Amino acid sequence: MRHLIDFGDLPREEWDALYARASQIMDRPQDYMDACHGRVCCSLFYEPSTRTNFSFQTAMLRLGGSVFGFADPKSSSVAKGETLKDTIKMVSGYADVVVMRNPMEGAAKAASLYSDVPIINAGDGGHMHPTQTMADLTTITRLHGSVDGLSVGLCGDLKNGRTVHSLIKAMAKFKNVKFFLIAPRDLAIPDYLRQFMKAHDMWNVEVTGLEPVIPQLDVLYMTRIQRERFVDPLEYERNKGIYILSRAKLERAKPSLLVMHPLPRVDEITIDVDDDPRAVYFDQARYGMFARMALLMDLANQERIAPDAVEIGTKPVCHNPRCVTQSELYLPPLVKKNGDVDCCAFCDAPL
Ligand code: NCD
Repeated sequence: MRHLIDFGDLPREEWDALYARASQIMDRPQDYMDACHGRVCCSLFYEPSTRTNFSFQTAMLRLGGSVFGFADPKSSSVAKGETLKDTIKMVSGYADVVVMRNPMEGAAKAASLYSDVPIINAGDGGHMHPTQTMADLTTITRLHGSVDGLSVGLCGDLKNGRTVHSLIKAMAKFKNVKFFLIAPRDLAIPDYLRQFMKAHDMWNVEVTGLEPVIPQLDVLYMTRIQRERFVDPLEYERNKGIYILSRAKLERAKPSLLVMHPLPRVDEITIDVDDDPRAVYFDQARYGMFARMALLMDLANQERIAPDAVEIGTKPVCHNPRCVTQSELYLPPLVKKNGDVDCCAFCDAPL
């Protein structure tokens, strides 16, 4: 693996090796104190973040490496109109690995075309968030023993929630996972993921009610309604507060259920759930740091490799207004297949 852009691109064996490494780090952190000694990580956060940014920073520091970057693009040349390509070409000359969060879908893929060093996607708009998926799978494997055969409820804003999209891509690599997709009709999963699940023969059912399915679940993954992604504020008002998990609702749940959440939570899990032993969302955040340590050990220690030259685009072929090709007009018109359908290779939207 050179870059981590989409969890779907990570072979199962590579994930198993990363998980094994993350487990070893958790058990014997002192053995890894110098694993990234002398290595430098650049973190470019074009969008707000607490956990992801902090956990990458602490991961690198705990491995003996160092970090620079910005958490607010207004303080960088981006505010002067610099292209993503130029920013990446420049910082990839300073750093050994680049962690990037950007509001445009496909931005990390775009960055990877121009970087001499590995790019890690720390969230590209409402599209993907593969390192959150590493945190999620680490949590499930550590606490449940395995991911195979589980019934997983994904609840909330499945349209805009990138953590859910990445998790669905990842689960295609495991056996007999059943998905209960719990969302209001307005916020159901994007069609390309429906096609993806079909192409990968993944059992799933789309429902609007949370309570009726709770007793069947091994994992309940709650998500926030992603206010910042709504074009129409009234649509947000209609959907906010739609699912609220309380302690009372957990009464009929399995004793072994894991209640997960990528955080930050707004109101979708009441505070009285925090003391239930099934609530593991704060552990999940901590496991994420170890998973990121395992990833950084691999990627920050790679050789620099100048990327191949790519075609210069003239106008976007993708019609998704949130796709990075709409704002970075020089990007090449890359296409990929999802089943039989031609899709944008940056944001996955059907062409
Ligand atoms: C998530 C994100 O940024 O997508 N947060 C995180 O990285 N842990 C979830 C969210 O913002 O709702």
